[in-house]
Amino acid sequence: MTIPKQTKIVHPGGFAGGVVRVPGDKSISHRTALLAGLSSGTSEIRGFLQAEDCLNTLKAMEAFGARSWIDEEGVLSIQGTGGKMIEPVGPLDVGNSGTGMRLLAGLCAGSPIQVTLTGDASLQSRPMRRIKEPLELMGATVDLTPQGTAPMTIQGGNLHGIEYRLPTASAQVKSCCILAGLYATGRTTVLEPIPTRDHTERMLRAVGAPIRVEGPHISVEGCGPKGPKFLARPYVVPGDFSSAAYWLAAAAAIPGATLRVEGVGLNLRRTALLDVLRRMGARVEIERTSAPTDPEVYGNVTVTGADLKGTEVSGAEIPNLIDELPLVAVLGALARGRTEIRDASELRVKESDRVAVMVENLTNMGVRVEERPDGMVVEGPARIAPGKSIRSYGDHRIAMSMSILAIFSAEPVCIGNVACVDTSYPEFWDQLVNLGVNVE
Ligand code: S3P
Repeated sequence: MTIPKQTKIVHPGGFAGGVVRVPGDKSISHRTALLAGLSSGTSEIRGFLQAEDCLNTLKAMEAFGARSWIDEEGVLSIQGTGGKMIEPVGPLDVGNSGTGMRLLAGLCAGSPIQVTLTGDASLQSRPMRRIKEPLELMGATVDLTPQGTAPMTIQGGNLHGIEYRLPTASAQVKSCCILAGLYATGRTTVLEPIPTRDHTERMLRAVGAPIRVEGPHISVEGCGPKGPKFLARPYVVPGDFSSAAYWLAAAAAIPGATLRVEGVGLNLRRTALLDVLRRMGARVEIERTSAPTDPEVYGNVTVTGADLKGTEVSGAEIPNLIDELPLVAVLGALARGRTEIRDASELRVKESDRVAVMVENLTNMGVRVEERPDGMVVEGPARIAPGKSIRSYGDHRIAMSMSILAIFSAEPVCIGNVACVDTSYPEFWDQLVNLGVNVE
């Protein structure tokens, strides 16, 4: 049989557990590229995620005047612009990354330049009015398509601070406002309805930026049109918890299997999946290895698998495992009883409509699943068998989550359109093989 390029066949079984290290955190890598790219001098970054999304953000910073190079040991050096951004020639294509586009938009809005940001078909279908609104309240002009999507043209400069209540819990929108606020006159305060990942706040504090967090209010004192004066510094990016999640989830669903991930980010706003795994019956041990002075918490996590039982995931927990929800649905198919995901309508505007796509794929694998406007209900344990091949819809998290389910299938599973995995975890397939799974 010839296997189409961009298709993987994952064979059931084989997953042996063990010790894993995962590549650098995607969210932190994006932010490091931005901050180091704005600083004066050359910053050295260890653990930067060399995947398409973050490399596109780095390329965008180069278009604004930064320079970067990577040595043989994978250490990335970024020579920053010193704060001043030059107007790029032509549109900047940030590929698949919502984080790249929304954070860069915040930065562009602060400078007296005109920039067009665009991306792939998935990114061009995602909502951007959520950043247009606050950026225009601050004084920038943001042009979108009539559908409120990219390509987006930003005319920046002369911003003033605002008080802004985020209509949706989104770290990307929060970070966009904070970055623009650094270039405004006066204070910008963002009010979060539910806490979301706080990497931007932690990193800005680490570089000495005038940022204050008081409960749900995050405030930055604007530095005016010249922007903040950050100095180059070393950065260490911990492993990405969202990449580790695939291996932790696989081990959790195999009674007695043990998997340890070392050097992984343990920011509490990212690790709610560990609480879910515990509720479902797995054993989870956490060992912090970061120093109290490190901007981010990181360490080792060990999961021991069990006969899982269903659980409910909703409310304030959602932003803290937003990227792991497809995996929670997979766990629901393997667990005894009902697993319900609620309050997660944001899932519908990610790299794909992750509610619809997971419901379609789980159904095609023989799982009983019911679609809801804000989530889904999965009944397990299912006899997993591929009725049809799996469609990733170009969404990396769908391709990887369904590959984990394939390990538990009765037959090999064909997963199409897997090139998207390179946006966040290019080593995923090699790691799957290293853990004992047969992949063609
Ligand atoms: C991210 C925030 C989340 C997450 C995305 C990365 C970030 O999006 O889904 O993968 O780096 O800020 P929202 O904040 O829009 O939910």
